[in-house]
Amino acid sequence: MIVGVLREARAGEHRVAATPATVEQIRGLGYEVVVDAGAGAAAGFTDGAYEAAGAAVGEAAAADVVLGVEAPSRAQLDAVRPEATVIALFAPAFDPVMVEELGRRPFTALSMDAVPRISRAQSMDVLSSMANIAGYRAVVEAAHEFGRFFTGQVTAAGKVPPAKVLVAGAGVAGLAAIGTAGSLGAVVRATDPRPEVADQVRSLGGEYLSIESPEVEVSTTGYAKEMGDDYKAREAELYAAQCRDADIVITTALIPGRPAPVLITADMVAAMKPGSVIVDMAAANGGNVVGTVKGEKTVTGNGVTILGYTDLAGRLPAQASQLYGTNLVNLLKLMTPGKDGRLVLDWDDPVQRSITVVRAGESAWPPPPVRVSAAPVPAAAAAAPAVESAVRKPVTAGRKFGAVSVAALALFLAAGFAPAALLPHVTVFVLAIVIGYYVIGHVHHALHTPLMSVTNAISGIIVVGSLLQIGQSSTAVTVLSFVAILLASINVFGGFAVTRRMLAMFNRS
Ligand SMILES: NC(=O)c1ccc[n+]([C@@H]2O[C@H](COP(=O)([O-])OP(=O)(O)OC[C@H]3O[C@@H](n4cnc5c(N)ncnc54)[C@H](O)[C@@H]3O)[C@@H](O)[C@H]2O)c1
Repeated sequence: MIVGVLREARAGEHRVAATPATVEQIRGLGYEVVVDAGAGAAAGFTDGAYEAAGAAVGEAAAADVVLGVEAPSRAQLDAVRPEATVIALFAPAFDPVMVEELGRRPFTALSMDAVPRISRAQSMDVLSSMANIAGYRAVVEAAHEFGRFFTGQVTAAGKVPPAKVLVAGAGVAGLAAIGTAGSLGAVVRATDPRPEVADQVRSLGGEYLSIESPEVEVSTTGYAKEMGDDYKAREAELYAAQCRDADIVITTALIPGRPAPVLITADMVAAMKPGSVIVDMAAANGGNVVGTVKGEKTVTGNGVTILGYTDLAGRLPAQASQLYGTNLVNLLKLMTPGKDGRLVLDWDDPVQRSITVVRAGESAWPPPPVRVSAAPVPAAAAAAPAVESAVRKPVTAGRKFGAVSVAALALFLAAGFAPAALLPHVTVFVLAIVIGYYVIGHVHHALHTPLMSVTNAISGIIVVGSLLQIGQSSTAVTVLSFVAILLASINVFGGFAVTRRMLAMFNRS
């Protein structure tokens, strides 16, 4: 089959659905690639670069699989063949007119912005990859408008205090903004109704501002819920105080399926210092800030700049195209099981089903919901591939009591019936389990890598001890020694493989 890469129809859209690097990956799946002339020009990719990667320059809309960033224009859709598949950001959840338009056409249309946020689909999650870039760019735009340093400095010409940045909402975009502002030297604070993000904020060098309210609870879905009046009142107090103090406010608050919650009122904006900057990332969805104009920069009477840009990811077009293109390659990998250049739509796969807007001319929108739940999964549903668990089921007090009772009974039996020489060993073993459980269970996530080194060292000791024992005495000891060597080796070689993978992530080539 031939994959076509469209030249984006909308003026101002600088991204492209494939880069020369991703063209090579698509060809590796057995496809031929055709690129519209000038498709990548706005992102800095010349036709020559695509040709060097093995693509031909021609009419992309006439291909078997047509790739775009935004929804193709009507003229481009008219050129698509009936049996083709078109993949782009159709925004079917927000654009019923487009859904209707696609429903009138004979081909298959897949929308990348409908990829469910489950771990299995992470590599195709365009909304996350674009939000990550947008969060970075929001800080760059704010820094540009701010006109002062982010980092504090002591110079011969005077002392410069660090900029204070408030980030509202610590999802994908918010965390990217926190990391970027922090690395520029700003003092960063962030808040979010999901208390589980506190550690992530801190790990990026930010301060998490918690809002004490009985409504606050760990999210079972990874998304925030609509909060009640008590939370909203306390939240408003916090934002009012923070806006008086902050130089930059970046708002990213989103509750799926609802208009963006309004967090920053006109009074709060009026209380901000002249020269302060607000970037309202939710502008396309109604805005988190009163006074935001979608797609525009406005300056209030008291000198506060409000940016309502909705194309933040597209302002880094080469980077955004590379990540979007990689998301598409990952989707093509999923849909090309034979790596033979033949696209197969698996209707039973929840990811592919979720993104299908039209299948061979038949409307398939809206798709059935994919359950993204951290709540305990019933046994029957546990087998369903769509179900992803974000948080482990907590161990109940009854189960804990049961486990301790069984362990105590085993210890009692061992003490009563084991030979006297074995008793000190059993005692050391049991104490090691208890101490190990509490010590390792409380190690901070950030320290898991050094912890792995320690467990590798322990595994090394186990291997040496078992090698000394193996074949020395009874069959039972030999078997146990063999099992110990096997398990310890899995830890050693597994640790080595994980470390290698992590190091490869920093390899420029
Ligand atoms: N402007 C652009 O160019 C651009 C680009 C990409 C994404 N976005 C927008 O950025 C926003 C964030 O995207 P995302 O992918 O990070 O979403 P996300 O779902 O990962 O994060 C949203 C966060 O908002 C939090 N939240 C909800 N209510 C809140 C409240 N009252 N106060 C504080 N936080 C609250 C949620 O808990 C969640 O952590 C979305 O509106 C998205 O459309 C804009």
